[in-house]
Amino acid sequence: MLRPGEVDSVDKLQPGQGCHRPRGLDQGCRLARAEDGTLYKRSESCTHIGCHVHWNSLERCWDCPCHGSHFAVDGTALNGPAVSPLTSDSYEH
Ligand code: FES
Repeated sequence: MLRPGEVDSVDKLQPGQGCHRPRGLDQGCRLARAEDGTLYKRSESCTHIGCHVHWNSLERCWDCPCHGSHFAVDGTALNGPAVSPLTSDSYEH
């Protein structure tokens, strides 16, 4: 059974969507597909002090619930207090 925010396959992630890890992938990662189809895999840990980010489907960015940082689909820090991007690899699928 999938939990909210999970997908069972990366292929089901549409442009502009983000999710928690698909089954079988690393724990602690987040995935988001940009409008151009590029898939980004990033750490779930906010670079401020490590809270877990969540996908904001309205604004299409990663939000940190602790102190309000926002990160772009590729992990770039948009609003502080975090100033560093979310870490991890990126790849196209
Ligand atoms: Fe994310 Fe502070 S831990 S903004």
